[in-house]
Amino acid sequence: MIRSEGGADVLIDTYGRVATDLRVSLTDRCNLRCTYCMPEEGLQWLAKPDLLTDDEIVRLIGIAVTSLGIEEVRFTGGEPLLRPGLVGIVERVAALEPRPRMSLTTNGIGLKRTATALKAAGLDRVNVSLDTLRPDVFKTLTRRDRHKDVLEGLEAARDAGLTPVKVNSVLLPDLNADEAPDLLAWAVEHGYELRFIEQMPLDAQHGWKREGMVTAGDILASLRTRFALTEEDAGERGSAPAERWLVDGGPHRVGVIASVTRPFCAACDRTRLTADGQIRTCLFAREETDLRAALRSGAPDEEIARIWRLAMWGKKAGSGLDDPSFLQPDRPMSSIGG
Ligand code: 5AD
Ligand code: SF4
Repeated sequence: MIRSEGGADVLIDTYGRVATDLRVSLTDRCNLRCTYCMPEEGLQWLAKPDLLTDDEIVRLIGIAVTSLGIEEVRFTGGEPLLRPGLVGIVERVAALEPRPRMSLTTNGIGLKRTATALKAAGLDRVNVSLDTLRPDVFKTLTRRDRHKDVLEGLEAARDAGLTPVKVNSVLLPDLNADEAPDLLAWAVEHGYELRFIEQMPLDAQHGWKREGMVTAGDILASLRTRFALTEEDAGERGSAPAERWLVDGGPHRVGVIASVTRPFCAACDRTRLTADGQIRTCLFAREETDLRAALRSGAPDEEIARIWRLAMWGKKAGSGLDDPSFLQPDRPMSSIGG
């Protein structure tokens, strides 16, 4: 049994990594169509009966928190604000013992309406995706004219106390690659913590190319044309994927998540649950473990915990991104959860 192999009642793998961070995708749908994520026409969405219900999601998170050592829960999508039961799910997870930390990764559209309710329900923080300060570039990149909604959502999150509010930016060549210093100046001014994410091969259209991608090195060089950056706690990155720099001596910081050029797989502490109830050990995993089938066949909590431990025990060493034989996973990012 896995407990004796793994040695503990946690989600440990054969490399000794322990997953304490659970990412839960609440829907694969989205109201934007970012070019690096989805085709213009959207995707074949999951059918309603295949999605976990609110009760099933809360039950699985409960098992993760009480039996598997999960300390942090991040809700993602698609766009998680499109899930009607979101506030109720947050409220029920906040009542679990022990109570996990909870955050939400969102495109910010609709946050203006829901930030206060989410905070009241127990959400701790948000990560909002925003790649550009220019409304016209936003429209080209996301294929929707919603820049203003995102800015308003960000302000609402900050005013509701969903802090620190983090902003995720992906830079694309020939589109917004020149905006790094402007984005940082804006984030500092508004009190948001900015993190740049290298573009990963997770788009549904399989259009990613290594050559030409904007790397962490490019981003730092661009930022340094306007800011003095000093690396924070160098060598103490732990499991945090973002390497962080103090901006002009601090206290503001900027992060860079170099998933492609400086992968952090050796320190990964994540496990993922898709909206249709599949466990994924990694964004780039090519296998999944079906918890929904176990749930719906009446498996008790301990059996579900056992299946989850076994799935994580088999987690691969890394994403394989640097291997020439790398194969992109069949599911796009929007249906895995960011
Ligand atoms: N590469 C890097 N980041 C991506 N995101 C979505 N698709 C990709 C990709 N292919 C980002 C979103 C969001 C977070 C969940 O992941 O912009 O900030
Ligand atoms: Fe939606 Fe996020 Fe994909 Fe953009 S990157 S289309 S906001 S799921």
